[in-house]
Amino acid sequence: MENIKQNNQKKWWKNIVVYQIYPRSFADSNGDGIGDLQGIISKLDYLEQLGIGAIWLSPVCKSPQDDNGYDISDYQDIDPMFGSLEDMERLIAEADKHQIRIIMDLVLNHSSDEHRWFQEAKKSRENPYHDYYIWRDGTEEVVPNDMKAAFGGSAWEWVPQIGQYYFHQFSVKQPDLNWENPKLRREIYDMINWWIEKGVKGFRLDVIDQIAKEPDRHITNNGPRLHEFLRELSKETFQRADLVTVGEAWGATTKLAKLYSNPDNSELSMVFQFEHICLDQIKGKEKWDLAPLPFIELKRVFARWQKELYGQGWNSLFWNNHDLPRIVSRWGNDEKYRVESAKMLAILLHGMQGTPYIYQGEELGMTNVKFKIDEYRDIETRNLYQERLEKGYAKEDIMRSIYAKSRDNARTPMQWNDEKYAGFTQGTPWIGVNPNYREINAANQIQDKESIFSCYQTLIRLRKEYPVFVDGEFELLAEKDPALFAYTRTNADAQVLVICNFFEKTIDCAIEPDRSMQLLVSNYNDEGQRKTLRPYEARIYYKLR
Ligand code: GLC
Ligand code: CA
Repeated sequence: MENIKQNNQKKWWKNIVVYQIYPRSFADSNGDGIGDLQGIISKLDYLEQLGIGAIWLSPVCKSPQDDNGYDISDYQDIDPMFGSLEDMERLIAEADKHQIRIIMDLVLNHSSDEHRWFQEAKKSRENPYHDYYIWRDGTEEVVPNDMKAAFGGSAWEWVPQIGQYYFHQFSVKQPDLNWENPKLRREIYDMINWWIEKGVKGFRLDVIDQIAKEPDRHITNNGPRLHEFLRELSKETFQRADLVTVGEAWGATTKLAKLYSNPDNSELSMVFQFEHICLDQIKGKEKWDLAPLPFIELKRVFARWQKELYGQGWNSLFWNNHDLPRIVSRWGNDEKYRVESAKMLAILLHGMQGTPYIYQGEELGMTNVKFKIDEYRDIETRNLYQERLEKGYAKEDIMRSIYAKSRDNARTPMQWNDEKYAGFTQGTPWIGVNPNYREINAANQIQDKESIFSCYQTLIRLRKEYPVFVDGEFELLAEKDPALFAYTRTNADAQVLVICNFFEKTIDCAIEPDRSMQLLVSNYNDEGQRKTLRPYEARIYYKLR
């Protein structure tokens, strides 16, 4: 056990920061309005300057793009929209020269309906690929059961030529794969090993907690065989190389997370779970049903994950990804205190234990957008709008939810500079650019010591320089304080103290750093008063023990 612990302390993915790229919105190299692999290669200097250690690349495999690449029709080829397999190989090699590893997005719960397997599977019940998917008998009028798909409508789709339904947890173009079938599992492992041989250094596993479904019992996530499947997957693939693996698991509890990320390396390196980020919705309802953020609860949720995984698992730290609205608009202040609050949120998160993830543009404090309904591109947003209209919701209410939670908030083009279309493309972008790009862009921030970009740069550097950020034990302070988020991280040698005013009002700080503590980073350019925190003020102090 001690050995495992020590080995695990040294894991390379514990002191790096991962940067997520949503390829179609990052950088377009050929003017077709869609970001691509050459575009990413051209920005590697920027990413190295930021200091990140790995890129999580959202899907670039061949896909009809019904769900922007999360519907893969060939796992071993690149979609021409993003480039070629050679471009991908070049990206892996070039990134390596910048000490950046590539983490690919594996979508293993479902494929595209245009995948060769599914094209075969739907030909007949006897086809060798039929059992790669999940089928149930029925009649056109009587569906197997009332299960719903995440993007609206029934989870069952009728295929008249064979008189059966197939199961899909997402869109009709994303049929669920049947993990019960050992032949399917073998094909998946071979495919993953092929990518490992190409030099990929890790994988993010899309909705991995949903692979072991049992639709007859209405079970979608955390199915009985989930961890058995994961252990087999890991043994046949990831354990053969020194990889990082991160499992997207909406249904993870701290208890389950310890299985996923067991330090014995039997499953994955870490989980990507959403408990903290789902707090601002009405309990038991959908994300669109907005509720104010319960701040004390937020502290409790973070503290519970920090405490329970300590020494027994590993967590991802994030505010954003391609499915979530921009954090500065959501829980910060995207007007008067945009810079202060974006930095506060960064400082608060990056002081904790786990591997931090930055989603493209977060390091610039990019904000949400308010589009007209037909300017939205996301299948989830478009379906939601129709569905709620039909249910009789008022248009303004639907739009309020969309402004707050649409996934397209995160998918507008990366804001590189103040030129046309924010320097993202020479053509016409596939989705509108946020109109604030003239003010909020990378060119403005790279050289500016006071910028949000520089703050992220500092936070990334601190994790590499001070081991206490990696292994220090977490202690929440002032738990009931209605505005202060404060905690310590302590190991045998050192202690850090993180204090953040989460809101706009100046407060008296209930926690005072002792005189021996040195300020490592803050979001104001002077140290201010030790006992007062200005709007969104955040500081990290440090001392040797
Ligand atoms: C994950 C992805 C999301 C996608 C869904 C279906 O949640 O992050 O973008 O739509 O899985 O693949
Ligand atoms: Ca392009």
